[in-house]
Amino acid sequence: MCDKADYPDPVGVLISPSVLNSDLSRLTDEVGRIAIAADFVHLDVMDNHFVPNLTFGLPIIESLLRNCPVPADCHLMIADPDRWAPSYAEAGAASVTFHVETARSPEGICRDIRSAGARAGVAVKPGTDVEEVARLMPGLDMILIMTVEPGFGGQSFMADMLPKIKRARQLAESAGTDVWVQVDGGIDASNIELCASAGANVFVAGSAVFSDPDPAAMVTRLRHLADGAVPR
Ligand code: DX5
Ligand code: ZN
Repeated sequence: MCDKADYPDPVGVLISPSVLNSDLSRLTDEVGRIAIAADFVHLDVMDNHFVPNLTFGLPIIESLLRNCPVPADCHLMIADPDRWAPSYAEAGAASVTFHVETARSPEGICRDIRSAGARAGVAVKPGTDVEEVARLMPGLDMILIMTVEPGFGGQSFMADMLPKIKRARQLAESAGTDVWVQVDGGIDASNIELCASAGANVFVAGSAVFSDPDPAAMVTRLRHLADGAVPR
C-alpha cells in the first residue's frame, strides 16, 4: 500500500471520481462511497445543447453541496457558461470548469469563478487545439484535456490525446502559477500511468471507479499508479 506522504511530489496527484455512471437516485450515498479516498467528486453538468445528453444542474448541485463530504469539481458541458459558471462557484464548488469552445468571454468567466472563491478550469474537446487556452494563462487554475468526446461515461480513452496533455503541462509550467492539468474520459488502471507521465495531475475516473465493487479501493489504486508515473 502506498501512502501519498511517501512520495513528496511537487505536482500532486489528485483523483476526482465522476458520479455520472453511478446510481444517481442515491447521489449522496454514492459520493459517500468514495469520500474516504477521493480528493474531489467530479460532477458532470450537461444541458443537451453543448452535448447530446442531459444530467443535472444548479439546483441539484446546490442541494448536494449543502452537505458534501468531498470538495466538488464541477465540469460544465453547457452552452452558456458565461451566464451559469459563477453560480456553481457561489454554490460552494471548489473547482468550476467550462468549455472554451462555447465561452464568449473565457477571461471574464475565470475572473468571476475566482472571485466567487473557486478554482477556474478551462476544458478542450478532443478536436480543439490546446493553444486556445494559452492566451488565458495565467488567469486560470486548471486545463482539462478531454480524452473522449464529452457527453457520456464509459467510452474508450483516446491515446492520441497524450501529446496534448504534454503541451498542456508545458503551458501550465510556463504560467509560473499552480495550474493543474486534468484528464477526463476513459481513465482507468490501464492508462492512468500514461496520462501521469505525460503531465496530468488531476484524474477523473467514472466507470472505472463506480463499476468496481469497492470504489474507494479503486481510487486508492489509481492514485498509487499515477503517483508512481509522475515525472520527477
Ligand atoms: C464525459 C464526462 C466524464 C465521464 C467520465 O463527458 O465528462 O466526466 O463521466 O466517465 P468515464 O471515466 O466512464 O469515461
Ligand atoms: Zn467530466
